Amino acid sequence: MIWAVANANVALVKYWGRAPGDDHQPAGTSLSLTLDGLVSGARVEERPDAGADHVAWVPPGPVGDLRRFVALARGRLGIERPVDVLITSNFPVAAGLASSASAYAALTTALAALATDIPSADRLAAIARRGSGSACRSLLGGFVQWRPGEEAGAVTQIAPPEHWPLAVLAAVTDNGPKRVPSREGMRRTRDTSPYFDAWLRVGAADLDAARAAVRSRDLHALGTAAERNALRMHAAALGADPPLLYWEATTVAVIREVWRLREDGTPAYFTIDAGPQVKVLCEPADSPRVERALADVPGVVRILRSRPGGPPRTLREPPAWAVHATLGAPPVGEEA
Ligand code: DP6
Repeated sequence: MIWAVANANVALVKYWGRAPGDDHQPAGTSLSLTLDGLVSGARVEERPDAGADHVAWVPPGPVGDLRRFVALARGRLGIERPVDVLITSNFPVAAGLASSASAYAALTTALAALATDIPSADRLAAIARRGSGSACRSLLGGFVQWRPGEEAGAVTQIAPPEHWPLAVLAAVTDNGPKRVPSREGMRRTRDTSPYFDAWLRVGAADLDAARAAVRSRDLHALGTAAERNALRMHAAALGADPPLLYWEATTVAVIREVWRLREDGTPAYFTIDAGPQVKVLCEPADSPRVERALADVPGVVRILRSRPGGPPRTLREPPAWAVHATLGAPPVGEEA
């Protein structure tokens, strides 16, 4: 039995739209920060006597997607025997906090440990993105870029986590699942939003600005590029038919609080993925003040603290936070 753990990531320049075709290629280049402590774990065990793979999420998740992914990954990694897979996370799942990214990065890492040959980083990235596009970025630590294309180096580290000790606070405004999953939201935006082409066009400039800001550790430049890019992604999504509105009233209240903090002299910047939660970047020294301000916004249910994190790791034992999930998991052979 093998465990692997992987961190979630937050996109500073978003992946929002796949290229046409069924190859799961992104329509544009994205840039993310791997988030320390927002972790998913994957347990994988070979089951030579089982007739088929067994898969489970704790709490329950989309087993059909997981089963298809395991079949594809086993094929590409040359794992002949059926496997038993359990996935769990230490933060709210399917709520716009990138749990699918950390889950599929952890699972890809655990399955790779069963492969007879050691797969290259490029091959692993090409597998992970079939589970969830953003998962390929969680295979690396720190600031990570993912660009379209099959050739080597599609997913690269721009800077390691220790390059820039930023604070990241996730203001959780709602613990429930997102209304429209990213996959469907992206498809709808690409197929129906009149703003989709404009969104892809401006993404390149946001990417250049964000990359330069990471290199020079310029929080204002990175924060303003990330905010602009997030708002443009949501503008494109709002233009879809039917429209995609991922925000709640509390989401807007948190945006306004971040802007108020900035007006009062505290550099803090937000970004929002396909859900109502708001992630805020700031200097570590300002983090306690920013956290208090966010926690005081009516409707914020909790704040998760993070900072730049590292790549996935394999373990022989479950991480302490995952032990309860292993106890509640259905026995081999049963569906979650
Ligand atoms: C808004 O990676 O979850 O978080 O490839 O369909 O699984 P699929 O989508 P997913 O989408 C992430 C969308 C986003 C932006 C981002 O992480 O870049």
